[in-house]
Amino acid sequence: MKMERTYHKIGIAGFGVRGQQLASAIIHQLPEFGKVVACAEIRKNPVFSDDISTRCPDLRVYDDYKKFLKDREIDTVLVTTYETTHRQITEDAIRAGKAVLCDKPVVPSLEEAEELYRFVTSRPCFFQVGLNLPSFPVPLKLKELLDAGKIGRVIAARGTCDVGAGFGRDIILNKFGGKRGHFITAKLTHDTDLMQHLLGTYAEEVWGKTANFLWRRNGEKPDTDDTGVMAGVMCSGVLFSEWLTSCGAKYERSFHFFGTKGELSANLHSETVTFLSSTGEQETIPAPNRHGGSHFGADKAMLTDFLDYADSGVKQARWPGRILSSVMVAMAALEGKTVKTGEWYRRITGEK
Ligand SMILES: NC(=O)c1ccc[n+]([C@@H]2O[C@H](COP(=O)([O-])OP(=O)(O)OC[C@H]3O[C@@H](n4cnc5c(N)ncnc54)[C@H](O)[C@@H]3O)[C@@H](O)[C@H]2O)c1
Repeated sequence: MKMERTYHKIGIAGFGVRGQQLASAIIHQLPEFGKVVACAEIRKNPVFSDDISTRCPDLRVYDDYKKFLKDREIDTVLVTTYETTHRQITEDAIRAGKAVLCDKPVVPSLEEAEELYRFVTSRPCFFQVGLNLPSFPVPLKLKELLDAGKIGRVIAARGTCDVGAGFGRDIILNKFGGKRGHFITAKLTHDTDLMQHLLGTYAEEVWGKTANFLWRRNGEKPDTDDTGVMAGVMCSGVLFSEWLTSCGAKYERSFHFFGTKGELSANLHSETVTFLSSTGEQETIPAPNRHGGSHFGADKAMLTDFLDYADSGVKQARWPGRILSSVMVAMAALEGKTVKTGEWYRRITGEK
């Protein structure tokens, strides 16, 4: 790919925890790649972290994202508002000629997923969903090993995400309190997207169930479920299960793949993958964190890769199918019944 890197002028729509975390990654880890020149933020009197105040002293702060999109200096927009506004801001930013990286969950409903998919695939644009889990060191290594056939043909996969009681209580009662999105889609969009990405396929049929067991405000109904389980089959025939809970002792994510030649398993927050052959030999495969910074170096890796894509000259939405597949499994689980996700996915993408 012929590519000449440019110095990007980045605007961030929604300058809360995630927006400022990405701004810090740009300041400290990607200073050659660009700088944050503006943000759109509807909070009254927003407060910025020290590094943003000191390293971006000329930051322009807009209280209306439409005014922000008229800022001609901005070439790239990171969308880190809540999912209810992601699609509208993304579409308006693309119409304004900006490259867009939109954080997960990309949309709050299947209807909006279809609308956004059709929008980004019907025009030349730079667009990508900001899913950073595939850029963690362990998932990068798992993808390499699975694609190289380390365990032969994959037969079954399982994933578990226990955010731990401390994180669960804090995040669910603060961030998701007051009807702000759904914890199940917010978290499992990561894990279910990753499983489909690692297997190079999408979910054909999913059954799931979710519930609130623990975290609710005293005397109030729960705002969101805190636990979920789902199982199904991928279009490729691989059987899978995935579960999420928020009552364990620590934040832990793990994946386990079973194939015709053995198993691969890993804690996604570690720096190793374990291979166990069908005949019992064990191998510990390193997956070093080469970047540092937020999310085990994944934010730096994802941002670098996205900015290179925006400089590639190939003006075409990247991995648009993930707008659909990254939300459909967790949303199926919320239905509490068997959902034929594959039929829906193919109707929209036109894949055979
Ligand atoms: N990829 C990851 O690892 C990761 C981690 C955390 C959060 N996120 C995602 O980032 C997004 C934001 O989460 P957060 O934790 O930063 O929440 P947050 O509440 O800290 O920040 C969101 C900000 O957006 C602002 N906002 C909302 N609507 C707006 C609008 N129309 N125009 C301008 N500003 C607006 C809010 O005032 C708030 O300051 C969510 O989609 C979340 O799922 C992703």
